[in-house]
Amino acid sequence: MNENNIETLRWSNDHLEMIDQRILPSEFSYISYSSAKSVADGIRSMVVRGAPAIGCAAAYGVALEAIKTQSFNKLDFLSGMSDACRILLESRPTAINLFWAVNRMQSIIKDSQNLAPRELAIILLEEAHNIKAEDIKINRMMGSFGAELLSDGANVLTHCNAGALATAGHGTALGVIRSAVESGKNISVIADETRPFLQGARLTAWEMVQEGIPVTLISDNMSGHLMSHGEVDAIVVGTDRVAGNGDVANKIGTYMVAVLAKRHNIPFYVACPLSTIDRSISSGADIPIEERPNSEVTGYQDMQWAAKGVLVRNPAFDVTPAELVTGLITEKGVVLSPTKEKIDLLFI
Ligand code: MRU
Repeated sequence: MNENNIETLRWSNDHLEMIDQRILPSEFSYISYSSAKSVADGIRSMVVRGAPAIGCAAAYGVALEAIKTQSFNKLDFLSGMSDACRILLESRPTAINLFWAVNRMQSIIKDSQNLAPRELAIILLEEAHNIKAEDIKINRMMGSFGAELLSDGANVLTHCNAGALATAGHGTALGVIRSAVESGKNISVIADETRPFLQGARLTAWEMVQEGIPVTLISDNMSGHLMSHGEVDAIVVGTDRVAGNGDVANKIGTYMVAVLAKRHNIPFYVACPLSTIDRSISSGADIPIEERPNSEVTGYQDMQWAAKGVLVRNPAFDVTPAELVTGLITEKGVVLSPTKEKIDLLFI
């Protein structure tokens, strides 16, 4: 257990263990992983999800593969590592943290090619531990900047799950809420259910209930009604990838929430570690949007409620244009009304 009593990923007996987020909240259990391919399967099948958590899992996937193949000769080891990185990179397309983390591991492999596989495996595992520890630290920093933006007594709406479960700990959007609560503010959370995978109903609601932070669950089509009745003071969401101009990709439905927020003059904040900003992409139009299986829309797990043969669309993310974003909450501070120029300054 970590500081929030939720340790999304943990290293135990030379294995990676990850909470199985597909079965929460009815069951709480860990699945153990020992290869890059199995971690890639865990990412694809949503055992682990949420951009920073996916990045951490992928980093451990690279380390696990190195440990597994450390007795190979150098050539076979390096070619296996390159296959392992490719398999991890193909596991999900939208969250940039996956690419960020695997690239970070790949540059260690490239820079340390003179080392024996056994030595490289040790360094790669250390780097995966570093990525995990840095993530918690960064979430805490975003939390303290973001907490300043929320007033005492605020009702804060969030979409999807950008909590401890979506990160190595503390969370991004929920980290802001946790930090505000820790600073003594009374904050009530409104959790969008987040169809079709129900990250809000299953994960955000569970995290908040665990900690005794008041949380009210609504279905996604209720947020406009609540906003129009003055029941939402601020919105804080996470993100999977922010383009160089400040356009924000996040869980499908976030765009609708942002448009409604603008209509009702409610601040719309995005908690965004720098590792989630992709300056190689100039606008949100270039962010790849994952399409997930039809079965997630026609039902949930074993229960299917839509007519067989119906056509289905299931884009898992949407893009909120920068003009609808009140501020990006980063570990370097809050960027109000984000633009390319302001985002570039964060990287100096
Ligand atoms: O499909 P998911 O559950 O991986 O989507 C997660 C989200 O959209 C989160 O809001 C985002 O990754 C930010 S998590 C800190």
